[in-house]
Amino acid sequence: MSAPVAHAVKKAAVIGAGQMGLGIAYVSALHAKVPTTIYDPSDKVLSKALTHLDKLLERDVSKGRFSKEDATAARERVTSGRGDGTGEGGPDVLAKDTDLIVEAIPENVPMKTGLFSRLGEILPPPAILGSNTSSISLTRLAAAAGQPGDNGASSGRVVGIHFFNPVPQMKLCEIIPALQTNEETLQRARAFGQACGKTLAQSADTPGFIANAILMPMINEAVMLLEKGVATKEDIDTTFKLGMGHPMGPLTLADLIGLDTCLAIQKVLFTETGDSKYRPATLLQKYVDAGWYGSKSGKGFYDYPRK
Ligand code: CAA
Repeated sequence: MSAPVAHAVKKAAVIGAGQMGLGIAYVSALHAKVPTTIYDPSDKVLSKALTHLDKLLERDVSKGRFSKEDATAARERVTSGRGDGTGEGGPDVLAKDTDLIVEAIPENVPMKTGLFSRLGEILPPPAILGSNTSSISLTRLAAAAGQPGDNGASSGRVVGIHFFNPVPQMKLCEIIPALQTNEETLQRARAFGQACGKTLAQSADTPGFIANAILMPMINEAVMLLEKGVATKEDIDTTFKLGMGHPMGPLTLADLIGLDTCLAIQKVLFTETGDSKYRPATLLQKYVDAGWYGSKSGKGFYDYPRK
């Protein structure tokens, strides 16, 4: 691999202000020191994300990790916009000099391909179009971003930049080049992930990449054991915490990730490979149908009373 290059990002945007989007904006503004605009169609989600950002920065200052000045400078780097940055779902459109976006909208193929198609049109190369997808094919997103007659320039700047939840705490960023990704985009995405304070792992564009090709089947198996009545949720989680030294058991972790996200990823593994070993647990589907998404909704395998 060639020597690392500077990310040279001067203006970033994160699309989607959920728990991942907020975390990505936080590391981009605080660690990479890049002015970052965070977009979401919902005013409520945006204002919740910005309040959470203030709390995270306050906590970092109170724990002596950063000076008050650093935190204030980071906060001033974060701005917000209504919609998805392309004019859909709100009035605000990405500044023309945005040179890197990280998409962090729900794991839904038509939503993501629609967004990448609009981004390909409105934001010219060489701006990087990154996706925080947990499992969806980057090659498909790159194809959606492609523009007629540009010799692959638009699809070549699509790349997976995949962070982990909670983003401020987890030290990894998975980098996934699509089939079409050009070398400059790949190296700049790697440099950006490192500037955000993360260690990198690079994966080929295959369903689930490295992390979720292994993690999600494990969580799915844990749900199947629960469904079959083999053990209680507490005993399943205790087995992994005390028997394997995991910081959380698989069902607690599923609640943290979001059961809707876990189900969406497992469905991608199942449909993209056609392999029955990836069949999503019926109980996982039922919880999602009930609106029990985990800690973010107040209920999942465990209860999370609202503070
Ligand atoms: N959201 C945000 N921050 C959280 C959190 C949450 N749900 N839970 C804990 N934290 C923060 C705490 O506030 C604390 O921060 P400070 O140090 O700044 O105060 C820090 O994490 C440590 O918390 P605790 O000391 O209370 O608890 P802990 O030592 O048990 O650590 C943990 C908590 C970091 C979440 C740890 O349990 C852990 O590493 N769990 C595994 C998480 C994991 O595997 N994440 C990856 C999921 S996969 C994914 O995200 C990608 C995908 O594609 C699905």
